[in-house]
Amino acid sequence: MDSLVTDLDFIDNRTPEQATAAASCDTKVTQETNTGRSRKLYIESYGCQMNFSDSEIVSSIMFKEGFDTTSQIELADVVFLNTCSIREKAEQTVRNRLGQINYFKKKKPGLVVGVLGCMAERLKKALLEEEKIVDLVVGPDAYRDLPNLINEVDGGQKAVNVLLSREETYADINPIRLNSNGVSAFVSIMRGCDNMCSFCVVPFTRGRERSRDAHSIVQEVQDLVTQGYKEVTLLGQNVDSYKWASEDGTEMVNFAQLLEKVALVHSELRVRFSTSHPKDITDEVLYTMKKYDNICKYIHLPAQSGNSRVLELMNRTYDRDWYINRVNAIRSILGEDCGISSDMISGFCTETEEEHQDTLSLMDYVQYDYAYMFFYSERPGTLAARKLEDDIPLETKKRRLAEVIDRQREHSYIRNQIAIGKVHKVLVENFSKKSDEYLSGRNDQNKVVIFPKKHYKKGDYVNVFVNDCSVGTLFGEAVD
Ligand code: SAH
Ligand code: SF4
Ligand code: F3S
Repeated sequence: MDSLVTDLDFIDNRTPEQATAAASCDTKVTQETNTGRSRKLYIESYGCQMNFSDSEIVSSIMFKEGFDTTSQIELADVVFLNTCSIREKAEQTVRNRLGQINYFKKKKPGLVVGVLGCMAERLKKALLEEEKIVDLVVGPDAYRDLPNLINEVDGGQKAVNVLLSREETYADINPIRLNSNGVSAFVSIMRGCDNMCSFCVVPFTRGRERSRDAHSIVQEVQDLVTQGYKEVTLLGQNVDSYKWASEDGTEMVNFAQLLEKVALVHSELRVRFSTSHPKDITDEVLYTMKKYDNICKYIHLPAQSGNSRVLELMNRTYDRDWYINRVNAIRSILGEDCGISSDMISGFCTETEEEHQDTLSLMDYVQYDYAYMFFYSERPGTLAARKLEDDIPLETKKRRLAEVIDRQREHSYIRNQIAIGKVHKVLVENFSKKSDEYLSGRNDQNKVVIFPKKHYKKGDYVNVFVNDCSVGTLFGEAVD
């Protein structure tokens, strides 16, 4: 994972072929299944890990309908874009991509093009009118209906299903692990979000929060262990508010208890989770993390802003002091080494220069290991769009964001330097991007570590002595 994901560095002036070849850098593309099925499906996924995980559910549903997946768009009979609406740019990227896909559709007129996910939910039928090449619009809770919708399209119609559900968790669907390296897998534990942060479109695109049956989660994790997986990441917009009760009410499971159940599946299975909302993360969760060595000591705890007035306008329901209290609890229960990352929004409505400075000073206080940083992008229909004026000029938003990014680079470097001179247990995920003579994996704190491969391979746990670092990466040597 890159340590600095920002809004400032995306330029898309590639040809359709180049964009397809490079798509796996910005997006995730399905891998080949090749089981001899009659039709081929290509999915490109944008946005968050929830979307990547949903694409695996979609592939599973389509597989039963006679579709193999392909990683080559030219070979596809059906192309799905699983889309994101979080910022305007995310939607623009998809619209540009649809323009490029038009080129493939001209070469192969029977090609079916579907828009899935959050943009489908936000724009609904309007998307069919705005983007003529789209045949199919399907929201995140309607994937079980895909076989019927594909039939409608095969019959010459356009098809839409954007119904949201209060119950759907796809608990019984066995995802086809298409985005995975065979070592690490995502497991959805809940869907939707009830928080209504004023800037955020997710409650509108993903619907109400619901937690998945704890038994089906543990079962899925057990199956992954049997298949040889070494790491799971439990996914939800707000995992700390996970709450599931059995129908007869005799069993209640909160997030700390779920974490424990998952950690107990296998002591060599690493357990990660994302995202933690600062208002919900409890000491019980932190003590559970401490109790189990295989729960990774890393917490993604988005602050969004360091100023209490802005946080209130954002409807985050915590203030700066509360956030600092949670960070102090993490440091005192789990120690200084525990990795912490954040999301930050620069230039939210009415943010003053002093309030922006508060964000920088909060960053100085926490010293995040890394962060995802954005400038505010107004989303139609959200509380902020309805009630607040998007009054910070774009240049100011960008300048403040650049300052936040610079500060984060300093902190990432400082935090990485602390890792030098120590041995880290690294789970190997792949070859390094630059050379097959080097392996790449992550340590407990989610930092990428690169080292000469020797006799080690993907899926191994390797003790690596770290002797150097950059802003985004640790470098070292395996010690036997
Ligand atoms: N559930 C997570 C966030 C999911 S969205 C949480 O509560 O922390 C991922 C990130 O996108 C958010 O944390 C926020 O930093 C950013 N984001 C969301 N809406 C945005 C908007 N309108 N403009 C800019 N950034 C936004
Ligand atoms: Fe959006 Fe807030 Fe829900 Fe996160 S918690 S998904 S930012 S509404
Ligand atoms: Fe984007 Fe939807 Fe995820 S809006 S960030 S894909 S929940």
